[in-house]
Amino acid sequence: MRSVIDILDLSKTEIDELIAVAEDIIKNPAKYSEKCRGKKLATLFFEPSTRTRLSFESAMYELGGNVIGFSSAQTSSASKGESVADTAKVISCYADIIAMRHPKEGAPYVASKNASIPVINAGDGGHNHPTQTLADLLTIKREKGTLNGYTIGFCGDLKFGRTVHSLISALSRYENINVVLISPDELKLPDYIKKGVLDKNGMPYTETTDLESVIPTLDVLYMTRVQGERFFSEEEYLRLRDSYILTPEKLENAKSDLAILHPLPRVNEISVKIDNDKRACYFKQVLNGKYMRMALILKLLKEAGSI
Ligand code: NCD
Repeated sequence: MRSVIDILDLSKTEIDELIAVAEDIIKNPAKYSEKCRGKKLATLFFEPSTRTRLSFESAMYELGGNVIGFSSAQTSSASKGESVADTAKVISCYADIIAMRHPKEGAPYVASKNASIPVINAGDGGHNHPTQTLADLLTIKREKGTLNGYTIGFCGDLKFGRTVHSLISALSRYENINVVLISPDELKLPDYIKKGVLDKNGMPYTETTDLESVIPTLDVLYMTRVQGERFFSEEEYLRLRDSYILTPEKLENAKSDLAILHPLPRVNEISVKIDNDKRACYFKQVLNGKYMRMALILKLLKEAGSI
């Protein structure tokens, strides 16, 4: 059974096809409004979420399907000690496809090995978040016109930020991408990604702690929240959480066609004064996420033979 746990479970051709389907959904939503009639998506969220869960749910409704699920571990049998493997087997009796978020890295993978329906990873710990990456890729494509040949800065919590890890992996499939890693020393991109993705694919990158000095070189700026829930020490979180705050002053020397992305939720990283700047793309990114999830649900249900 085909599941998507890591963004690299999808080939570059498949990602490009998903983008094409999402663009067609944007143009012709009515064509898709009955495609999943009678099918059920189960959203199994063991960790808080606003966007991702509601995005999956609205994606399924817009395909004409239905949704069941839970939005916290406390309201599921996990609180009674049920394993992820058993939950996956049980939900396979009720639904046609699962979207799962879990605080433990690898939990959606375990679910996919035990489910008899496709499983989509909706974020596992500090590891991966493939559908956010699909949203990010569609946003870059629509804003810049291409997924090749630009300089992208990742700023903030590059250590625990799963959206950053997934997006860097996906970008390794495209051409001529320069990566600028902007973070405090304590929150640098893990070595396994630097060596296993950037070095392995010959992707040029630089590391800095200074956002202002690199802003003029960027075509895309991917801001992130410091992931307080993954810190061992509250004190360290409080010290690092406001490391970067993007303000209109800091954008003075930025390119006029810079695209500013953020997976959201935003805490303090981007001043609300930037929201009306034409370079701010983070709310468009939310909408793009819904279209890409629609495209992915369709693909996996088709491959599973259920539609
Ligand atoms: C992200 C996540 O859950 O990793 N949120 C999201 O799904 N859009 C980013 C975050 O929580 O900081």
